[in-house]
Amino acid sequence: MRALSGKPGSCWVATAEPTGYPALEGSVHAETVVVGAGIFGLTVALRLAEAGRSVIVLEGLRVGRQVTGRSTAKITTQHRLIYRELLEKLGTERARAYAEANKAGVDCIKDWIADYGIACDLEPKPAYTYTQDPSLRSAIEAEAEAVRSLGLHAEAIDRAPLPFDNAGALLFRDQAQFNPAMYLTKLARTVGDRGGRIFEESRVRFIGEASRWRVVTDGGTVHAENVVVATNMTVKSPVGMANRTQPGSHTVMAFRVKDPAVIDGMFITVEEEQSRSLRTGRDADGPLLLALGPRFNTGQEGDVASRFAELEDWTRGHLPVGETVWRWCNEDYDTADRVPYAGEPAPEKAPGFYIATGFNAWGISNGTAVGMMIADAIMGRPTPWKALYDPTRPYPQDFHTSGESQSVVERVGDIVPGHGGVLVTDEGHVAAWRDEAGELHTFSAHCTHKGCTVTWNNADRTWDCPCHGSIFAPDGAVIHGPARLPLSPKQ
Ligand SMILES: Cc1cc2nc3c(=O)[nH]c(=O)nc-3n(C[C@H](O)[C@H](O)[C@H](O)COP(=O)(O)OP(=O)(O)OC[C@H]3O[C@@H](n4cnc5c(N)ncnc54)[C@H](O)[C@@H]3O)c2cc1C
Ligand code: FES
Repeated sequence: MRALSGKPGSCWVATAEPTGYPALEGSVHAETVVVGAGIFGLTVALRLAEAGRSVIVLEGLRVGRQVTGRSTAKITTQHRLIYRELLEKLGTERARAYAEANKAGVDCIKDWIADYGIACDLEPKPAYTYTQDPSLRSAIEAEAEAVRSLGLHAEAIDRAPLPFDNAGALLFRDQAQFNPAMYLTKLARTVGDRGGRIFEESRVRFIGEASRWRVVTDGGTVHAENVVVATNMTVKSPVGMANRTQPGSHTVMAFRVKDPAVIDGMFITVEEEQSRSLRTGRDADGPLLLALGPRFNTGQEGDVASRFAELEDWTRGHLPVGETVWRWCNEDYDTADRVPYAGEPAPEKAPGFYIATGFNAWGISNGTAVGMMIADAIMGRPTPWKALYDPTRPYPQDFHTSGESQSVVERVGDIVPGHGGVLVTDEGHVAAWRDEAGELHTFSAHCTHKGCTVTWNNADRTWDCPCHGSIFAPDGAVIHGPARLPLSPKQ
Protein backbone atom coordinates (compact mmCIF):
# COMPACT_ATOMS: atom_id res chain seq x y z
CA MET A 1 0.00 0.00 0.00
CA ARG A 2 1.37 3.43 -1.00
CA ALA A 3 1.93 5.80 1.98
CA LEU A 4 -0.95 8.26 2.02
CA SER A 5 -0.22 11.96 2.01
CA GLY A 6 -2.21 14.52 4.00
CA LYS A 7 -3.51 14.58 7.55
CA PRO A 8 -6.59 12.43 8.18
CA GLY A 9 -9.63 14.65 8.82
CA SER A 10 -11.81 17.32 7.26
CA CYS A 11 -10.34 20.80 6.73
CA TRP A 12 -13.71 22.29 7.66
CA VAL A 13 -13.88 20.56 11.01
CA ALA A 14 -10.23 21.43 11.76
CA THR A 15 -10.97 25.11 11.07
CA ALA A 16 -14.24 25.44 13.02
CA GLU A 17 -14.24 26.44 16.68
CA PRO A 18 -14.61 23.45 18.98
CA THR A 19 -17.95 23.05 20.75
CA GLY A 20 -18.39 21.94 24.36
CA TYR A 21 -22.06 21.29 25.10
CA PRO A 22 -22.71 19.02 28.08
CA ALA A 23 -23.95 15.43 27.82
CA LEU A 24 -27.58 14.78 28.71
CA GLU A 25 -28.13 13.77 32.32
CA GLY A 26 -31.43 12.91 33.98
CA SER A 27 -34.95 13.31 32.73
CA VAL A 28 -36.03 16.40 30.78
CA HIS A 29 -38.96 17.49 28.65
CA ALA A 30 -39.32 19.49 25.43
CA GLU A 31 -42.05 19.85 22.85
CA THR A 32 -39.63 18.50 20.23
CA VAL A 33 -36.45 16.47 20.51
CA VAL A 34 -34.13 16.45 17.50
CA VAL A 35 -31.70 13.53 17.34
CA GLY A 36 -28.57 14.60 15.44
CA ALA A 37 -26.87 17.99 15.02
CA GLY A 38 -26.13 18.00 11.30
CA ILE A 39 -27.59 20.43 8.78
CA PHE A 40 -31.03 18.82 8.78
CA GLY A 41 -31.38 18.56 12.57
CA LEU A 42 -30.08 22.03 13.33
CA THR A 43 -32.29 23.60 10.65
CA VAL A 44 -35.35 22.03 12.30
CA ALA A 45 -34.13 23.17 15.72
CA LEU A 46 -33.42 26.76 14.73
CA ARG A 47 -36.69 27.21 12.86
CA LEU A 48 -38.57 25.94 15.92
CA ALA A 49 -36.48 28.05 18.32
CA GLU A 50 -37.03 31.14 16.14
CA ALA A 51 -40.77 30.63 16.60
CA GLY A 52 -40.34 30.34 20.37
CA ARG A 53 -41.03 26.58 20.47
CA SER A 54 -39.27 24.34 22.97
CA VAL A 55 -36.60 22.12 21.42
CA ILE A 56 -33.77 19.85 22.59
CA VAL A 57 -31.01 18.57 20.29
CA LEU A 58 -29.17 15.36 21.18
CA GLU A 59 -25.89 14.80 19.32
CA GLY A 60 -23.99 11.50 19.60
CA LEU A 61 -20.59 13.10 18.89
CA ARG A 62 -20.02 16.84 18.36
CA VAL A 63 -22.10 19.40 16.47
CA GLY A 64 -21.63 19.49 12.68
CA ARG A 65 -18.65 17.15 12.49
CA GLN A 66 -20.19 14.27 10.59
CA VAL A 67 -21.55 14.10 7.04
CA THR A 68 -22.20 17.84 6.81
CA GLY A 69 -18.78 18.76 8.20
CA ARG A 70 -17.10 16.34 5.79
CA SER A 71 -18.98 17.38 2.62
CA THR A 72 -17.75 19.61 -0.20
CA ALA A 73 -20.39 22.10 0.98
CA LYS A 74 -21.54 23.59 -2.29
CA ILE A 75 -24.71 25.58 -1.66
CA THR A 76 -26.45 25.09 -4.96
CA THR A 77 -29.59 24.02 -6.75
CA GLN A 78 -27.35 22.45 -9.43
CA HIS A 79 -27.27 18.78 -8.56
CA ARG A 80 -25.32 17.48 -11.56
CA LEU A 81 -27.86 16.81 -14.35
CA ILE A 82 -31.12 16.06 -12.53
CA TYR A 83 -34.04 18.22 -13.64
CA ARG A 84 -34.71 16.58 -17.01
CA GLU A 85 -34.73 13.18 -15.29
CA LEU A 86 -37.11 14.45 -12.59
CA LEU A 87 -39.40 15.90 -15.24
CA GLU A 88 -39.46 12.64 -17.17
CA LYS A 89 -39.83 10.32 -14.19
CA LEU A 90 -41.81 12.33 -11.62
CA GLY A 91 -43.65 14.87 -13.77
CA THR A 92 -43.69 18.64 -13.84
CA GLU A 93 -45.30 19.22 -10.45
CA ARG A 94 -42.71 17.26 -8.46
CA ALA A 95 -39.77 18.43 -10.56
CA ARG A 96 -40.89 22.01 -9.93
CA ALA A 97 -41.32 21.29 -6.22
CA TYR A 98 -37.74 19.93 -6.12
CA ALA A 99 -36.40 23.09 -7.75
CA GLU A 100 -38.44 25.32 -5.43
CA ALA A 101 -37.56 23.41 -2.27
CA ASN A 102 -33.84 23.48 -3.00
CA LYS A 103 -33.96 27.16 -3.96
CA ALA A 104 -35.70 27.83 -0.64
CA GLY A 105 -33.01 25.78 1.16
CA VAL A 106 -30.23 27.80 -0.49
CA ASP A 107 -31.99 31.09 0.34
CA CYS A 108 -32.55 30.05 3.96
CA ILE A 109 -28.82 29.33 4.43
CA LYS A 110 -27.86 32.68 2.92
CA ASP A 111 -30.48 34.55 4.97
CA TRP A 112 -29.40 32.96 8.25
CA ILE A 113 -25.75 33.68 7.50
CA ALA A 114 -26.68 37.34 6.94
CA ASP A 115 -29.22 37.66 9.76
CA TYR A 116 -27.09 36.00 12.44
CA GLY A 117 -23.73 37.31 11.18
CA ILE A 118 -22.37 33.79 10.74
CA ALA A 119 -18.66 33.80 9.81
CA CYS A 120 -18.34 30.63 7.71
CA ASP A 121 -16.23 31.63 4.69
CA LEU A 122 -19.33 32.03 2.50
CA GLU A 123 -18.29 32.87 -1.08
CA PRO A 124 -20.55 33.40 -4.07
CA LYS A 125 -19.42 31.08 -6.89
CA PRO A 126 -20.83 29.82 -10.17
CA ALA A 127 -21.53 26.07 -10.35
CA TYR A 128 -20.50 24.03 -13.39
CA THR A 129 -21.39 20.46 -14.33
CA TYR A 130 -18.79 19.72 -16.99
CA THR A 131 -17.78 16.88 -19.27
CA GLN A 132 -14.75 15.91 -21.32
CA ASP A 133 -16.96 13.82 -23.60
CA PRO A 134 -18.37 15.80 -26.60
CA SER A 135 -21.20 13.27 -27.00
CA LEU A 136 -22.71 14.52 -23.72
CA ARG A 137 -23.10 18.07 -24.99
CA SER A 138 -26.70 17.46 -26.09
CA ALA A 139 -27.60 16.18 -22.59
CA ILE A 140 -26.24 19.44 -21.13
CA GLU A 141 -28.33 21.50 -23.52
CA ALA A 142 -31.47 19.50 -22.76
CA GLU A 143 -30.82 19.91 -19.02
CA ALA A 144 -30.43 23.69 -19.37
CA GLU A 145 -33.81 23.81 -21.10
CA ALA A 146 -35.43 21.63 -18.42
CA VAL A 147 -33.98 23.82 -15.66
CA ARG A 148 -35.31 27.00 -17.26
CA SER A 149 -38.75 25.44 -17.69
CA LEU A 150 -38.84 24.95 -13.90
CA GLY A 151 -38.07 28.56 -13.09
CA LEU A 152 -34.32 28.33 -12.34
CA HIS A 153 -31.63 29.92 -14.46
CA ALA A 154 -29.13 27.78 -16.42
CA GLU A 155 -26.89 28.06 -19.47
CA ALA A 156 -25.14 25.48 -21.63
CA ILE A 157 -21.60 26.72 -22.37
CA ASP A 158 -18.88 25.46 -24.73
CA ARG A 159 -16.11 25.19 -22.17
CA ALA A 160 -15.87 25.18 -18.38
CA PRO A 161 -13.13 27.54 -17.08
CA LEU A 162 -10.80 24.74 -15.99
CA PRO A 163 -7.08 24.47 -16.81
CA PHE A 164 -7.63 21.23 -18.75
CA ASP A 165 -9.55 20.23 -21.86
CA ASN A 166 -13.28 19.84 -21.57
CA ALA A 167 -16.23 19.67 -23.89
CA GLY A 168 -18.70 22.04 -22.27
CA ALA A 169 -20.71 22.57 -19.12
CA LEU A 170 -24.02 23.43 -17.55
CA LEU A 171 -23.61 26.75 -15.76
CA PHE A 172 -25.66 28.06 -12.84
CA ARG A 173 -24.56 31.56 -11.87
CA ASP A 174 -24.96 32.99 -8.34
CA GLN A 175 -24.43 29.83 -6.33
CA ALA A 176 -22.18 29.66 -3.25
CA GLN A 177 -19.78 27.63 -1.12
CA PHE A 178 -18.94 27.77 2.59
CA ASN A 179 -17.34 26.02 5.54
CA PRO A 180 -20.20 23.81 6.78
CA ALA A 181 -18.69 23.05 10.20
CA MET A 182 -18.35 26.78 10.98
CA TYR A 183 -21.93 27.30 9.81
CA LEU A 184 -23.35 24.54 12.01
CA THR A 185 -21.29 25.57 15.04
CA LYS A 186 -22.90 29.01 14.86
CA LEU A 187 -26.35 27.62 14.04
CA ALA A 188 -26.15 25.56 17.24
CA ARG A 189 -25.14 28.63 19.25
CA THR A 190 -28.09 30.54 17.79
CA VAL A 191 -30.46 27.71 18.76
CA GLY A 192 -29.07 28.06 22.30
CA ASP A 193 -29.46 31.87 22.26
CA ARG A 194 -33.12 31.35 21.41
CA GLY A 195 -33.84 29.00 24.26
CA GLY A 196 -33.10 25.62 22.61
CA ARG A 197 -30.99 23.13 24.59
CA ILE A 198 -28.13 21.18 22.98
CA PHE A 199 -26.43 18.10 24.38
CA GLU A 200 -23.33 16.51 22.86
CA GLU A 201 -21.74 13.10 23.35
CA SER A 202 -25.30 11.96 23.98
CA ARG A 203 -25.84 9.06 21.60
CA VAL A 204 -29.46 7.96 21.45
CA ARG A 205 -29.66 4.24 22.18
CA PHE A 206 -33.42 3.84 22.32
CA ILE A 207 -36.54 5.62 21.09
CA GLY A 208 -39.87 4.40 22.41
CA GLU A 209 -43.37 5.48 23.11
CA ALA A 210 -45.06 5.96 26.44
CA SER A 211 -47.76 8.66 26.68
CA ARG A 212 -45.28 10.76 24.63
CA TRP A 213 -41.95 9.98 22.87
CA ARG A 214 -39.15 8.75 25.11
CA VAL A 215 -35.63 9.22 23.75
CA VAL A 216 -32.93 7.55 25.82
CA THR A 217 -29.16 8.11 25.98
CA ASP A 218 -26.65 6.51 28.37
CA GLY A 219 -27.07 9.47 30.74
CA GLY A 220 -30.71 10.47 30.52
CA THR A 221 -34.10 10.58 28.85
CA VAL A 222 -35.95 13.24 26.90
CA HIS A 223 -39.76 13.13 26.90
CA ALA A 224 -41.28 14.97 23.96
CA GLU A 225 -44.44 15.32 21.88
CA ASN A 226 -42.39 15.18 18.69
CA VAL A 227 -39.18 13.37 17.79
CA VAL A 228 -37.15 14.24 14.71
CA VAL A 229 -34.62 11.57 13.74
CA ALA A 230 -31.91 13.60 12.01
CA THR A 231 -29.10 11.05 12.11
CA ASN A 232 -28.41 11.04 8.33
CA MET A 233 -29.47 7.38 8.13
CA THR A 234 -32.37 6.89 10.52
CA VAL A 235 -31.43 5.05 13.72
CA LYS A 236 -35.14 4.32 14.16
CA SER A 237 -38.16 4.81 11.94
CA PRO A 238 -41.71 3.42 11.88
CA VAL A 239 -41.12 2.79 8.17
CA GLY A 240 -37.69 1.22 7.50
CA MET A 241 -35.33 3.40 5.47
CA ALA A 242 -32.29 1.10 5.18
CA ASN A 243 -33.59 -0.89 2.20
CA ARG A 244 -34.94 2.18 0.42
CA THR A 245 -31.49 3.72 0.29
CA GLN A 246 -27.93 2.83 -0.70
CA PRO A 247 -24.95 4.14 1.27
CA GLY A 248 -22.20 5.57 -0.88
CA SER A 249 -18.79 6.97 0.06
CA HIS A 250 -16.29 9.27 -1.59
CA THR A 251 -12.66 10.13 -0.97
CA VAL A 252 -11.87 13.84 -0.54
CA MET A 253 -8.43 15.51 -0.57
CA ALA A 254 -7.48 19.13 0.14
CA PHE A 255 -4.28 20.47 -1.45
CA ARG A 256 -2.39 23.67 -0.69
CA VAL A 257 -2.58 26.21 -3.53
CA LYS A 258 -0.88 29.60 -3.95
CA ASP A 259 -3.79 31.28 -5.70
CA PRO A 260 -7.18 31.17 -3.91
CA ALA A 261 -8.79 31.53 -7.35
CA VAL A 262 -6.83 28.63 -8.90
CA ILE A 263 -10.22 27.60 -10.23
CA ASP A 264 -13.01 30.15 -10.18
CA GLY A 265 -16.15 28.19 -9.47
CA MET A 266 -17.45 24.86 -8.21
CA PHE A 267 -17.14 21.96 -10.64
CA ILE A 268 -18.54 18.45 -10.93
CA THR A 269 -18.53 15.99 -13.81
CA VAL A 270 -21.66 15.02 -15.72
CA GLU A 271 -20.43 11.44 -15.44
CA GLU A 272 -21.28 9.71 -12.16
CA GLU A 273 -19.11 6.63 -12.73
CA GLN A 274 -15.76 8.42 -12.91
CA SER A 275 -17.01 11.38 -10.92
CA ARG A 276 -14.78 14.33 -9.98
CA SER A 277 -15.84 17.31 -7.94
CA LEU A 278 -13.68 20.39 -7.33
CA ARG A 279 -13.87 23.57 -5.30
CA THR A 280 -11.59 25.94 -3.43
CA GLY A 281 -11.63 26.67 0.31
CA ARG A 282 -9.28 27.48 3.16
CA ASP A 283 -7.96 26.26 6.47
CA ALA A 284 -6.04 28.19 9.17
CA ASP A 285 -2.88 28.15 7.03
CA GLY A 286 -4.29 29.46 3.76
CA PRO A 287 -6.06 28.59 0.51
CA LEU A 288 -6.87 25.03 -0.51
CA LEU A 289 -8.21 23.17 -3.52
CA LEU A 290 -10.52 20.27 -2.74
CA ALA A 291 -10.90 17.29 -5.06
CA LEU A 292 -13.40 14.48 -4.64
CA GLY A 293 -13.11 10.99 -6.11
CA PRO A 294 -15.71 8.57 -7.53
CA ARG A 295 -18.46 7.03 -5.39
CA PHE A 296 -18.20 3.49 -4.02
CA ASN A 297 -20.63 1.47 -1.96
CA THR A 298 -19.62 1.90 1.69
CA GLY A 299 -17.92 -1.20 3.12
CA GLN A 300 -17.80 -2.87 -0.30
CA GLU A 301 -14.31 -1.56 -1.18
CA GLY A 302 -11.36 -3.47 0.26
CA ASP A 303 -8.69 -0.91 -0.61
CA VAL A 304 -9.92 2.64 0.04
CA ALA A 305 -6.28 3.77 0.30
CA SER A 306 -5.75 3.06 -3.41
CA ARG A 307 -8.65 5.41 -4.17
CA PHE A 308 -6.82 8.23 -2.37
CA ALA A 309 -3.63 7.45 -4.34
CA GLU A 310 -5.61 7.55 -7.60
CA LEU A 311 -7.31 10.83 -6.64
CA GLU A 312 -4.00 12.45 -5.75
CA ASP A 313 -2.41 11.35 -9.05
CA TRP A 314 -5.38 12.63 -11.05
CA THR A 315 -5.39 15.99 -9.27
CA ARG A 316 -1.65 16.51 -9.68
CA GLY A 317 -1.99 15.59 -13.37
CA HIS A 318 -4.73 18.16 -13.98
CA LEU A 319 -4.31 21.09 -11.58
CA PRO A 320 -1.43 23.20 -10.18
CA VAL A 321 -1.54 22.00 -6.57
CA GLY A 322 1.13 21.86 -3.86
CA GLU A 323 1.29 19.75 -0.72
CA THR A 324 -1.62 17.45 0.19
CA VAL A 325 -2.90 18.85 3.46
CA TRP A 326 -6.07 16.93 4.38
CA ARG A 327 -7.78 13.71 3.35
CA TRP A 328 -10.99 12.02 4.48
CA CYS A 329 -13.90 9.82 3.38
CA ASN A 330 -17.51 10.90 3.57
CA GLU A 331 -20.72 8.98 3.21
CA ASP A 332 -24.29 9.80 2.24
CA TYR A 333 -27.32 7.75 1.17
CA ASP A 334 -28.80 7.55 -2.32
CA THR A 335 -32.43 6.97 -3.29
CA ALA A 336 -33.74 5.37 -6.46
CA ASP A 337 -35.47 8.51 -7.75
CA ARG A 338 -32.76 10.93 -6.51
CA VAL A 339 -35.21 12.63 -4.12
CA PRO A 340 -34.73 12.36 -0.32
CA TYR A 341 -37.27 10.72 2.02
CA ALA A 342 -38.57 13.20 4.56
CA GLY A 343 -41.68 13.73 6.62
CA GLU A 344 -43.87 11.93 9.13
CA PRO A 345 -43.82 8.31 7.84
CA ALA A 346 -46.69 6.91 9.92
CA PRO A 347 -48.91 9.73 11.22
CA GLU A 348 -51.51 7.30 12.60
CA LYS A 349 -49.25 4.65 14.12
CA ALA A 350 -46.45 7.02 15.19
CA PRO A 351 -47.80 10.58 15.34
CA GLY A 352 -45.14 13.23 15.87
CA PHE A 353 -42.32 10.99 14.60
CA TYR A 354 -40.39 12.71 11.77
CA ILE A 355 -37.40 11.62 9.70
CA ALA A 356 -35.26 12.66 6.73
CA THR A 357 -32.63 10.65 4.89
CA GLY A 358 -31.36 9.80 1.39
CA PHE A 359 -29.91 13.17 0.42
CA ASN A 360 -28.04 11.74 -2.61
CA ALA A 361 -24.99 13.85 -1.68
CA TRP A 362 -27.02 17.06 -2.12
CA GLY A 363 -28.14 17.53 1.48
CA ILE A 364 -26.87 21.05 2.06
CA SER A 365 -29.84 22.48 0.12
CA ASN A 366 -32.17 19.45 0.45
CA GLY A 367 -31.36 19.02 4.18
CA THR A 368 -32.16 22.67 4.82
CA ALA A 369 -35.36 22.48 2.77
CA VAL A 370 -36.68 19.42 4.60
CA GLY A 371 -35.57 20.90 7.93
CA MET A 372 -37.77 23.91 7.17
CA MET A 373 -40.60 21.63 6.03
CA ILE A 374 -40.55 19.44 9.13
CA ALA A 375 -40.35 22.38 11.53
CA ASP A 376 -43.35 23.85 9.70
CA ALA A 377 -45.25 20.53 9.93
CA ILE A 378 -44.64 20.48 13.70
CA MET A 379 -45.97 24.04 13.93
CA GLY A 380 -49.03 23.24 11.81
CA ARG A 381 -47.94 25.51 8.96
CA PRO A 382 -48.49 24.57 5.27
CA THR A 383 -45.86 22.20 3.82
CA PRO A 384 -45.95 22.43 0.02
CA TRP A 385 -43.19 19.83 -0.56
CA LYS A 386 -44.80 17.05 1.46
CA ALA A 387 -45.76 14.91 -1.55
CA LEU A 388 -42.36 15.35 -3.19
CA TYR A 389 -40.42 14.04 -0.18
CA ASP A 390 -43.06 11.47 0.96
CA PRO A 391 -40.97 8.91 2.91
CA THR A 392 -43.42 6.08 2.19
CA ARG A 393 -43.56 6.40 -1.61
CA PRO A 394 -42.96 3.16 -3.55
CA TYR A 395 -39.39 2.23 -4.43
CA PRO A 396 -37.80 -0.54 -6.53
CA GLN A 397 -37.10 -3.54 -4.29
CA ASP A 398 -33.77 -4.23 -5.99
CA PHE A 399 -32.35 -0.75 -5.39
CA HIS A 400 -30.45 -1.63 -2.22
CA THR A 401 -27.43 -3.95 -2.47
CA SER A 402 -25.79 -5.40 0.62
CA GLY A 403 -22.23 -6.70 0.37
CA GLU A 404 -19.69 -8.96 2.05
CA SER A 405 -16.72 -8.02 4.19
CA GLN A 406 -13.72 -7.22 1.99
CA SER A 407 -11.21 -7.67 4.80
CA VAL A 408 -11.10 -11.37 5.64
CA VAL A 409 -7.50 -12.40 6.49
CA GLU A 410 -6.22 -15.92 6.97
CA ARG A 411 -3.83 -15.39 9.86
CA VAL A 412 -3.72 -12.90 12.67
CA GLY A 413 -0.09 -12.28 11.68
CA ASP A 414 -1.39 -10.71 8.44
CA ILE A 415 -2.64 -7.72 10.45
CA VAL A 416 0.13 -5.12 10.65
CA PRO A 417 0.28 -2.29 13.26
CA GLY A 418 -2.28 0.43 12.56
CA HIS A 419 -4.54 -1.89 10.56
CA GLY A 420 -7.41 -4.30 10.96
CA GLY A 421 -8.74 -7.49 9.43
CA VAL A 422 -11.55 -9.98 9.87
CA LEU A 423 -10.73 -13.49 11.13
CA VAL A 424 -13.14 -16.35 10.53
CA THR A 425 -13.24 -18.45 13.72
CA ASP A 426 -15.45 -21.25 15.06
CA GLU A 427 -17.19 -18.62 17.20
CA GLY A 428 -17.98 -16.31 14.29
CA HIS A 429 -16.24 -13.45 12.54
CA VAL A 430 -13.80 -11.45 14.64
CA ALA A 431 -12.75 -7.89 13.80
CA ALA A 432 -9.13 -7.57 14.90
CA TRP A 433 -7.22 -4.31 14.99
CA ARG A 434 -3.55 -3.96 15.87
CA ASP A 435 -2.58 -0.63 17.42
CA GLU A 436 0.66 1.17 16.54
CA ALA A 437 2.37 -0.45 19.54
CA GLY A 438 1.54 -3.89 18.13
CA GLU A 439 -1.19 -4.85 20.62
CA LEU A 440 -4.18 -6.68 19.11
CA HIS A 441 -7.77 -5.60 19.98
CA THR A 442 -10.63 -7.92 19.05
CA PHE A 443 -14.37 -7.37 18.58
CA SER A 444 -17.29 -9.18 17.10
CA ALA A 445 -17.19 -8.34 13.37
CA HIS A 446 -21.00 -8.41 13.26
CA CYS A 447 -22.47 -4.97 12.81
CA THR A 448 -24.84 -4.12 15.67
CA HIS A 449 -27.49 -2.92 13.22
CA LYS A 450 -28.47 -6.15 11.48
CA GLY A 451 -25.41 -8.34 11.83
CA CYS A 452 -23.50 -7.99 8.53
CA THR A 453 -19.72 -8.48 8.71
CA VAL A 454 -17.76 -5.24 8.63
CA THR A 455 -14.92 -4.24 6.29
CA TRP A 456 -11.70 -2.53 7.41
CA ASN A 457 -11.27 0.89 5.77
CA ASN A 458 -7.49 1.01 5.33
CA ALA A 459 -7.40 4.80 4.79
CA ASP A 460 -9.76 6.25 7.43
CA ARG A 461 -9.01 3.32 9.78
CA THR A 462 -12.62 2.53 10.53
CA TRP A 463 -14.85 -0.54 10.37
CA ASP A 464 -17.43 0.08 7.61
CA CYS A 465 -20.56 -2.01 7.22
CA PRO A 466 -21.24 -3.22 3.65
CA CYS A 467 -25.00 -3.47 4.24
CA HIS A 468 -26.40 -0.13 5.42
CA GLY A 469 -23.28 1.95 5.92
CA SER A 470 -22.69 2.00 9.69
CA ILE A 471 -19.16 3.12 10.51
CA PHE A 472 -17.29 2.17 13.70
CA ALA A 473 -13.99 3.42 15.15
CA PRO A 474 -11.10 0.91 15.45
CA ASP A 475 -12.15 0.35 19.09
CA GLY A 476 -15.70 -0.49 17.98
CA ALA A 477 -17.39 2.82 19.02
CA VAL A 478 -20.18 4.01 16.69
CA ILE A 479 -19.17 6.88 14.41
CA HIS A 480 -22.09 6.75 11.97
CA GLY A 481 -25.49 5.00 12.11
CA PRO A 482 -27.87 3.30 11.57
CA ALA A 483 -26.10 1.32 14.33
CA ARG A 484 -26.69 2.67 17.82
CA LEU A 485 -24.47 0.27 19.77
CA PRO A 486 -20.70 -0.35 19.53
CA LEU A 487 -19.12 -3.56 18.22
CA SER A 488 -18.93 -6.01 21.13
CA PRO A 489 -15.45 -6.65 22.53
CA LYS A 490 -14.32 -10.27 22.12
CA GLN A 491 -11.45 -12.12 23.85
C1 LIG B 1 -18.39 13.43 -0.23
C2 LIG B 1 -19.66 14.21 -0.08
C3 LIG B 1 -19.73 15.51 -0.54
C4 LIG B 1 -20.92 16.23 -0.41
N1 LIG B 1 -20.98 17.49 -0.90
C5 LIG B 1 -22.15 18.15 -0.89
C6 LIG B 1 -22.27 19.43 -1.49
O1 LIG B 1 -21.29 19.97 -2.02
N2 LIG B 1 -23.48 20.04 -1.47
C7 LIG B 1 -24.57 19.44 -0.94
O2 LIG B 1 -25.67 20.00 -1.02
N3 LIG B 1 -24.47 18.25 -0.31
C8 LIG B 1 -23.29 17.60 -0.28
N4 LIG B 1 -23.19 16.39 0.31
C9 LIG B 1 -24.34 15.86 1.03
C10 LIG B 1 -24.53 16.50 2.38
O3 LIG B 1 -23.28 16.72 2.98
C11 LIG B 1 -25.38 15.61 3.28
O4 LIG B 1 -26.51 15.16 2.59
C12 LIG B 1 -25.84 16.37 4.52
O5 LIG B 1 -24.75 17.02 5.10
C13 LIG B 1 -26.48 15.40 5.49
O6 LIG B 1 -26.81 16.10 6.64
P1 LIG B 1 -27.44 15.34 7.87
O7 LIG B 1 -27.88 16.37 8.84
O8 LIG B 1 -28.42 14.32 7.41
O9 LIG B 1 -26.23 14.44 8.45
P2 LIG B 1 -25.02 14.73 9.50
O10 LIG B 1 -24.39 16.01 9.17
O11 LIG B 1 -24.23 13.51 9.52
O12 LIG B 1 -25.82 14.89 10.84
C14 LIG B 1 -26.33 13.78 11.54
C15 LIG B 1 -25.86 13.87 12.98
O13 LIG B 1 -26.52 12.87 13.74
C16 LIG B 1 -25.62 12.37 14.71
N5 LIG B 1 -26.07 11.06 15.13
C17 LIG B 1 -26.07 9.90 14.44
N6 LIG B 1 -26.60 8.89 15.18
C18 LIG B 1 -26.94 9.44 16.38
C19 LIG B 1 -27.56 8.92 17.56
N7 LIG B 1 -27.90 7.64 17.67
N8 LIG B 1 -27.76 9.77 18.59
C20 LIG B 1 -27.42 11.09 18.49
N9 LIG B 1 -26.84 11.63 17.39
C21 LIG B 1 -26.62 10.82 16.35
C22 LIG B 1 -24.29 12.34 13.97
O14 LIG B 1 -23.19 12.29 14.86
C23 LIG B 1 -24.35 13.61 13.14
O15 LIG B 1 -23.76 14.71 13.79
C24 LIG B 1 -22.03 15.64 0.21
C25 LIG B 1 -21.96 14.34 0.69
C26 LIG B 1 -20.79 13.62 0.54
C27 LIG B 1 -20.75 12.21 1.05
S1 FES C 1 -25.53 -1.09 8.85
FE1 FES C 1 -27.11 -2.52 8.68
S2 FES C 1 -26.14 -4.38 9.13
FE2 FES C 1 -24.59 -2.93 9.35
